[in-house]
Amino acid sequence: MENTQNLEEVHQRLEELRDEINFHIYRYHVLDSPVISDYEYDRLLTELNQIEAEHPEWIKPDSPTQRVGPKPAEKFVKVQHPAPILSLANAFDTEDVQAWYNRILKLDDRVAQADFVIQPKIDGLTVVLHYQDGYFVQGATRGDGIVGEGITSNLKTIRSLPLKVPVLAGGPTPPTRLVVRGEAFISIKEFEALNRRLEEAGEKTYLNPRNTAAGSLRQLDPSLTATRPLTMLIYQIVDSTSPMPASELDTLAYLRDLGFPVVEDIYCQDIEAAIEASEALTRRRDNLTYEADGAVIKINDIMLAVELGVVGKDPRGSIAFKFPALEVTTELLDIGVNVGRTGVLTPFAILEPVNIGGVIVKQATLHNLDYIADKDIRIGDRVAVKRAGDVIPYVIGPIKDLRSGDERIFEPPHLCPSCDQPIEHFEGEVAYYCVNASCPAQLIRNLEHFVSRGAMDIVGLGIKIVQQLVMGDLVHDVADLYTLHRDDLLSLEGFAEKKADNLLRSINASKIRSLARLINALGIRGVGEVMAGDIAMAYIDLDSLSRAKFEDLIALEGIGPNIAQAVVDWFEQPANQQVLAKLHKAGVWPIAESVSSEIEIPQIFNGMTIVLTGTLEGFSRQEIKKFIEDRGGKVSSSVSRKTSYLVLGESPGSKLNKAQSLGVPILDEKELIVLGSE
Ligand code: IVH
Repeated sequence: MENTQNLEEVHQRLEELRDEINFHIYRYHVLDSPVISDYEYDRLLTELNQIEAEHPEWIKPDSPTQRVGPKPAEKFVKVQHPAPILSLANAFDTEDVQAWYNRILKLDDRVAQADFVIQPKIDGLTVVLHYQDGYFVQGATRGDGIVGEGITSNLKTIRSLPLKVPVLAGGPTPPTRLVVRGEAFISIKEFEALNRRLEEAGEKTYLNPRNTAAGSLRQLDPSLTATRPLTMLIYQIVDSTSPMPASELDTLAYLRDLGFPVVEDIYCQDIEAAIEASEALTRRRDNLTYEADGAVIKINDIMLAVELGVVGKDPRGSIAFKFPALEVTTELLDIGVNVGRTGVLTPFAILEPVNIGGVIVKQATLHNLDYIADKDIRIGDRVAVKRAGDVIPYVIGPIKDLRSGDERIFEPPHLCPSCDQPIEHFEGEVAYYCVNASCPAQLIRNLEHFVSRGAMDIVGLGIKIVQQLVMGDLVHDVADLYTLHRDDLLSLEGFAEKKADNLLRSINASKIRSLARLINALGIRGVGEVMAGDIAMAYIDLDSLSRAKFEDLIALEGIGPNIAQAVVDWFEQPANQQVLAKLHKAGVWPIAESVSSEIEIPQIFNGMTIVLTGTLEGFSRQEIKKFIEDRGGKVSSSVSRKTSYLVLGESPGSKLNKAQSLGVPILDEKELIVLGSE
């Protein structure tokens, strides 16, 4: 008796765990707002695994453990779609959209009153998902639109795909049979992270998110698919045994209530608003988290859309307003070579200028010297060039069929194009390096990075000035910036006293940047803003970091062996040790924020009340507030007779007038920093 009761309790625990884990998967992968830590999640999963191992008979198809099947799938089966999986006609400009609208208006008067929804046209792979009594039972590719390929096991590995709907208790009762359609894809961020991981492991990287997503879903082994960061968004009901929602908007709301991740949508009252919204989406395409190749304009009223019918494979009720192409062809005029801040040589293409999605492109990266040889890219070739998101345009490859025979094979350099020293190539790496520590090109890049926004953020120190400082022999490393004198700057072209003083003040102001920023600024290979932040959490200052061992670093979250080694190597270099000593001497020696409260900072603003107004140039409000409070001051939001200083930013508000009338001293942010650093 006791045993049975016990067994029942275990069974109940299993069900609780399964629902709880599915809830957390939904929070994380669909809503993008997890409520527990990875650690807690792993503990729940371990507990579920243990119970299921002892009671395999209790495993249900929606258990999170069923996402990766035990053995490779057999060859893909054919899946008949319950209704044709249609495609979309394209519009390339607003006239095309207007012409489409006029055509359907002629066919049906009701179009005059129609409202619309706009959705991004995600550049991924169509997926068709079948649910029986709420359970995910089968998934397929589009195929020819009538019959697709079964990729059920692979789709199950996508965590944002609900194994059972409704995901949350209390959601709508699912239809006996429900078939939905959406797009599976890899987000740009996940794609870049995947490539970084592959690169770190010395493996081949992928070319673009779309092909990677498509290739991943057509794997025969689902455990491989499971390692790819696939996700999906749903936008259509293909078939249902329950009555269908009347509009596109209601469809999305209903699918969302069931727990599906749904595509974002913009509601538009009429065709003018729809065109405007599509153009607005075009302008913010680079801000989307995934690659999209257009805006889909859909008539909101589904009945009306269906009654408008289909031309070939394209329903009349929707149209794809394509974004301008981001891939074009042009002539490769020449190949140049840049020297990066770590000495790595990067070849770049000098192109016949070409418009790519509204931007004139004259240069594009060729990644590395091997890339040119691997792709057989020759000077004079017609080449395909791509520009996407924030990434630098790059050459995809030559169009060999268009060769005339006059193309030239590129001869890689043997000497650094900047300092004429021999180039080195390390075993197992693709990159070629200039290893001359005093190569001016490297120093220029180093300084450029050091002063950049995410690093020391030295306002007013642009690339032209950096070049002048290096070429004029005034700066030999990043620390030399802090010992520049007014006369040094006055000797440069274009510098008068005011400009020189402003720059000196900016440089001075950068002394208080956080440890994380300084670590990033040093330009250690592989250590960017995020990683520098992680490292700064674990060390008090650069001195303690310089003593860190490989084993200490690798124990930090997110730091792999290559980066740990790069950090150790950087601090071991005598030239870098000299830079550190000079920075220390110049007072550029931030203490980690976590411990800075324990360090004594002179209380220069003790008893003072300081008011801020306008937009500050080099700091966030929080940074300035902390700076003042660390030094004993108070920040107040209104000016009074008791105000010690007003700190003035760009476009100040009415506080300025008040301060002037009360005779409150006024400082700009740089003057405040100088005052507080004395
Ligand atoms: S609607 C009848 N909406 O674009 C419905 N398609 O040819 C037709 N796509 O490969 C499709 N995002 O998978 C629609 N928000 C979206 C979409 C979308 C991507 C894909 C679709 C197909 C192609 C249209």
